[in-house]
Amino acid sequence: MERINPWESFQVKDYTKLMKEFGIEPFGKFSSKLPDAPAFIRRGAVFGHRDFERVYNAMKKKEKFVMLTGLMPSGKFHLGHMMVAEEIVYLQRMGAKVYLIVADIEAYNTRNQRMEDLRKLAIEEYLLNYIALGLKPRNCDFYFQSARSKDADKSNAYYRLAGMVPRRTTFNEMKAIYGELTPGKIVSVFHQVSDILHPQLREFEGPCPVIVPVGVDQDPHIRLTRDIASRMNGNREAEFILPSSFYHKFMPGLKGGKMSSSDPTSYIALTDDPETVKHKIMKHAFSGGANSIEEHRKHGGNPDIDVAYQILLYGLEPDDRKLKKIHDEYRSGSLLTGELKQYAIERVNSFLKKHQERMEKARDRIDRFWKVSSF
Ligand code: TRP
Repeated sequence: MERINPWESFQVKDYTKLMKEFGIEPFGKFSSKLPDAPAFIRRGAVFGHRDFERVYNAMKKKEKFVMLTGLMPSGKFHLGHMMVAEEIVYLQRMGAKVYLIVADIEAYNTRNQRMEDLRKLAIEEYLLNYIALGLKPRNCDFYFQSARSKDADKSNAYYRLAGMVPRRTTFNEMKAIYGELTPGKIVSVFHQVSDILHPQLREFEGPCPVIVPVGVDQDPHIRLTRDIASRMNGNREAEFILPSSFYHKFMPGLKGGKMSSSDPTSYIALTDDPETVKHKIMKHAFSGGANSIEEHRKHGGNPDIDVAYQILLYGLEPDDRKLKKIHDEYRSGSLLTGELKQYAIERVNSFLKKHQERMEKARDRIDRFWKVSSF
């Protein structure tokens, strides 16, 4: 059986096989049913889920549900990160109570970062962008794993749960799920399990549906959390509704492969200026076009592997009809690589211009989410 290691860059070769192996359900039937969903969801980039039905029903009936996800601040906030942000903002709009976690304990223990630096990054890069993308302070609980809450009852409940979780798993089970472990990884896992389950404690919301939107690299945590929740239920220690999840594909990096904050030529940051965007797309974006104009005109290009096209597909071209036109013209060869890149550059830059203005305004709103002085 294949293993997913959430601490190593993980790339899926075959989604169908992966879903079969781990028991992830296809998301297809929901993709078109979610009202006003971000374009990439409509277009199938969210491919799989566990128990999403439960959350979907709560959403439809306007019953209480929680949307919860976490981030490890790693550098510049880029287009790849934007997908999760859009999911969060969308679910908040659909009525979710948002729990947004900065996994600083995890980042501290599994990466070579200083606590102060990663906290600063979390606010300056991530939170600021979330706000600019539409996150609202109402119904939003933004916290750090190392600083859960100023309310002692809440804070105690979160750390108590993290301290009780280990009893409901074994070292062998964890090795089977994660492969090689370190003390830091083990501690991170217990915090993450508590992250996902604690909204259902009586100090927070009580039992309710919880949706965790993540990349599929996080599925090992979801599986373990669901197992631990059932065991705690079985021992009458809790009444957790098993948390649901859904998984998105990642927007490809400019050169193909992953968009990674450690390689600036692989990503477009939301703070990049128009010249940088132009340079990155022109110089680095992998092209699905043919080798010469003549050949391209004759045989056409392949949008499925063309990164400029993929950027549009993942949301930078929200208009489905325009996207289809681009797709068909590129396939047929009437649209050239240079023209497609030029179009993608325009779309990205016009989005970034507005976004960067919103980021400036977002600065004044940071303290509605988090008072930095409270560390
Ligand atoms: N492990 C996640 C990451 O690598 C961060 C995280 C911490 C998280 N707690 C979480 C994600 C709870 C989802 C739910 O990015």
